[in-house]
Amino acid sequence: MNVVVSTPDAIVTAAQALEAGRLVAFPTETVYGLGADAENAAAVADIYKAKGRPSDHPVIVHVAPGADIRYWAKDIPHEADQLIAAFWPGPLTLILKRADHIPDAVSGGQDTVGIRCPSHPVAQQLLLAFKNGKGGVAAPSANKFGHVSPTLAQHVAEEFTQEILPGGLIAAVLDGGQSEVGIESTIVDLSRLATHGPVLLRPGQISTAQLSEVLGVTPASPDAAAPRASGTLDAHYAPQTPVVQVAVAELDNVAAQLQAKGKTIALLSYQPHPGIVALAVRRLPADAAGYAHDLYAGLRELDHAHADLILVEAIPQDKEWLGVNDRLRRAAFDSRDVLQKILQA
Ligand code: TXA
Ligand code: MG
Repeated sequence: MNVVVSTPDAIVTAAQALEAGRLVAFPTETVYGLGADAENAAAVADIYKAKGRPSDHPVIVHVAPGADIRYWAKDIPHEADQLIAAFWPGPLTLILKRADHIPDAVSGGQDTVGIRCPSHPVAQQLLLAFKNGKGGVAAPSANKFGHVSPTLAQHVAEEFTQEILPGGLIAAVLDGGQSEVGIESTIVDLSRLATHGPVLLRPGQISTAQLSEVLGVTPASPDAAAPRASGTLDAHYAPQTPVVQVAVAELDNVAAQLQAKGKTIALLSYQPHPGIVALAVRRLPADAAGYAHDLYAGLRELDHAHADLILVEAIPQDKEWLGVNDRLRRAAFDSRDVLQKILQA
């Protein structure tokens, strides 16, 4: 298996593999990424191949601390510098106008580029070793298209059983422990400031309130013409087992009805539900940050129970839960009608 401990030597070897046009999976503070040299169109094409992702979806370019974003982007507004000063390195991706010499493979043909400087020490060491800190590593989350993002090296290995074999597309998976944040970066579009102002394309740990404080305005919600982001597709981040959210007041009742119909359930909750019979139960922390940290590992674990349904105790709608609400809604999107169908059958 290609999962390696992130020693200094392993990181240098991984950087060399990237320079040679190979793929390397690496930890970030949000989720694990599947990286390639952003300026090597063939290497970026291999990311799409490995993930089974449509090639018109843009990927995020990860840069080393202190990198010159003017190499990657043009017409950079001062709002970008403000957000970078406040939140980099960290879980914030900026969408900017793409510099003319940057291959459009990283942008799925769009005229913008997504850039982020991660704070995870292994990601930073890899980016500093790669092209002497002057390169960019294109990296979507290290999972097959539409699946739950990985927050452990083991998750990456489970997603890419074939690709990590010797001679496979992925040269190495650097192990950096569990991702601290647990959900993907907040994405802010600054490429259309003059007409639309800053737009929040994907909520994440860095909240709308934090962004507003720095920008002086509240970022808008995406409009129809906003840059496309696959992480904003209605169905995404989904386990194989249908996911259904149920209000806490109805949870016991719904579980009992499912049991009466001979259906098995796996339960994801943040409060105890001792009355519910489930094949597997995962209790997550009751605060938004703790919940985000454990959410994807929890969904993966419950998926392994092969129940008929994953029942999720609906979470608070407060602002700080925006990012997790967004991910749960997408994970559950394809199973909107599943519960009704079972209960009415
Ligand atoms: O936290 C993260 O952002 C993780 C880690 C690995 O950095 N990466 C990640 O990548 O979530 P991915 O590809 O799974 O999701 C990135 C999102 C996608 O929805 C993509 O469409 C959007 O960012 N994106 C990237 N570049 C863009 C661009 N130029 N315009 C609009 N959306 C863009
Ligand atoms: Mg993804």
